[in-house]
Amino acid sequence: MNNSPRTRLSPGQFLFGAAYYPEQDRAEDLRDDPDRLAAAGVNLVRMAEFAWDRLEPSPGEFDFSFFDEQIRRLGERGIRTMLCTPTAAPPVWLARRHPEILRVDADGRTQVHGSRQHASHCSPVFRAASRAITGAMAAHYAGNPDVVGWQTDNEFHCHFSEDYCNAAREGFREFLTQKYRDIAALNEAWGTAFWAQTYAAFAEVDLPYPNRPSQENPGQRLDYVRYLSHAVIEFQREQVVLLRAANPRWWITHNGIFPNIDYRAFNADLDFMGVDIYPLLAPVVEPGSTVPEAYSARMLARTQSLSPRFIVPELQSGGGAQGGFMTDTPEPGQMRLFAWHCVAHGALGTLHFRWRTCRFGAEEYWEGVLDHDNLPRRRYEEFCREGAEFKAQAHIFHDTRPCRDVGVLYDTGLMEFAHRPITLGLPSPGAVADTIFTTLWRAGYNVGYVHPLADLANYRLLFLGAGAVVIPEVAAALTAWVQRGGTLVILARSGRKDERGQVVTATPPGILAPLAGCEIEEYSRIHLPRLAGLPSTSFTWGGEECAEHLWREILRPRGGRVVAQWRGGRFEGLPAVVQHQVGAGTCFYIGTYPDERLVTQWIALLAPMAGIRPLLPELPEGVEVTLRREGDRRLLFILNHRGKPSSIRGVPEGTDLLTGRKPEHGALTLEPYGVVVLSY
Ligand code: GAL
Repeated sequence: MNNSPRTRLSPGQFLFGAAYYPEQDRAEDLRDDPDRLAAAGVNLVRMAEFAWDRLEPSPGEFDFSFFDEQIRRLGERGIRTMLCTPTAAPPVWLARRHPEILRVDADGRTQVHGSRQHASHCSPVFRAASRAITGAMAAHYAGNPDVVGWQTDNEFHCHFSEDYCNAAREGFREFLTQKYRDIAALNEAWGTAFWAQTYAAFAEVDLPYPNRPSQENPGQRLDYVRYLSHAVIEFQREQVVLLRAANPRWWITHNGIFPNIDYRAFNADLDFMGVDIYPLLAPVVEPGSTVPEAYSARMLARTQSLSPRFIVPELQSGGGAQGGFMTDTPEPGQMRLFAWHCVAHGALGTLHFRWRTCRFGAEEYWEGVLDHDNLPRRRYEEFCREGAEFKAQAHIFHDTRPCRDVGVLYDTGLMEFAHRPITLGLPSPGAVADTIFTTLWRAGYNVGYVHPLADLANYRLLFLGAGAVVIPEVAAALTAWVQRGGTLVILARSGRKDERGQVVTATPPGILAPLAGCEIEEYSRIHLPRLAGLPSTSFTWGGEECAEHLWREILRPRGGRVVAQWRGGRFEGLPAVVQHQVGAGTCFYIGTYPDERLVTQWIALLAPMAGIRPLLPELPEGVEVTLRREGDRRLLFILNHRGKPSSIRGVPEGTDLLTGRKPEHGALTLEPYGVVVLSY
């Protein structure tokens, strides 16, 4: 995030509101909106991301009158507007005139008008249309004081991110030409000597097609994913440039987070990021999931690691349905809890999705604050309560931010992209990071995700799990951080690959070996249950019996000290964990993958060494705790995600901002879906 003046959103002001779709409603539905929104304390609505057909009904003929009127009516009540570039849903005339803008999937199926996100970010024609509508909107609204910021497009890569249209093919070749200059360099990077894949010219290169007929070239896949990310970044940048030129005071955001985008690069063009939060989607997105707040906590914490300040442009209000699924409907109090959940992780603002439930279309059962009949009921009352609370309290929490002491190293551009081409059936770095994060978050540690090239100074304990690709800058940053006193835990399969995705010639963990103080002598994928005749192995570390998980490595110390040995079969006595003192800090290398049980065992050993403790000594199931701070001011957010009261002990002395109450003898009881913000 840059620090330009426009990023300063009037200090003390929390952005509170809803996603607003007046173009989908009847005039009589809209009549009371400004009053109802203002009464709820709304100061911002988001508009127009799916309204291109209304804004440019025919090519080059712009008509902003409808939105002008809505923005004006709301502005009169002190409600500002975040507009969106409407490029997630291009109008039918564009697809009919220029069918070449349509995306094509890997099976060759051309997408059609009638849904959304059907146009290709790689298409020069679509890009020109995007610039035209963005430029026209920017020019029209540049002087409108009620328009304060923008969201680019809507959830890039939400439905699918791959693109096999001709423009993508041409764009990919151009991307590769710029990157490699010489086809020999591409052949080298992709290892085309394998299976006779050598190219004589960039024009011969095609997009990677999975399973046609067998495995694709992993280097080609990796560059393709990078290209997809590059294309969407360029697409967005063209919009950002036009918006900034029209009014440099506007702030610009986007609502993530989705696959195949290197958000570190993507965010460099934005003032801050956005993330859409639908906790009750958890069982849909992660089948079998029964802890919705774990899913949303991960989304929030990931976003916060990418963009220290961020907003939630869409936050669940009611049940959510599309086609064949519908989420549960939030219980009374749960919608407000979700809003505080976002704040607990650092959000600068929350906009509920959506203001009014639509009566038609693919999301006719995606419930907003108001029901289909436009009557305010309990969700509106809760919305009003949120608005009043944020109005009263935002000046206290607004300048604080999450400041974590445990970090899980994670990044899409380096780590996650490199996993996809060859997964070995193992969880991705993101999934591994999620396991570590979730386990520690549930135990009440002050944990977050952290980009390996971010400022690591505040962390005391870092985990690097399944980080196959480690570039020299990352190895150097981690080494410097350990030397200054940090405790780093490196897990199996780290440091094995270079930026091209090729396995390094050095013995693993490659460039991490000097830091890890060990090398890997032998490794094996572990299937559970074990195949007949193969022993299950485990190691005992600090009295904890730790069972291997998914992968086993036999270590050989190189400067480090063996602190745990494998047990079982021929592995008896061989090194499993190596501890290495580096400057004032310590690095541990652990030769297996993590699961919840292992992380729980390891943290019991590591936390005292790293000098960290959970934020609360005991955390009942379903209760979340996070910390935001600024200097000496600390705010402990304690949230009860269950529909029954929960008693907490060991709470620091302080005052609950929301009730003014002080916990007695360190104890407090949270009501069902209750929230305490303890200032101490
Ligand atoms: C988001 C999207 C919205 C709406 C919402 C509910 O992913 O940005 O436009 O579709 O989900 O499905």
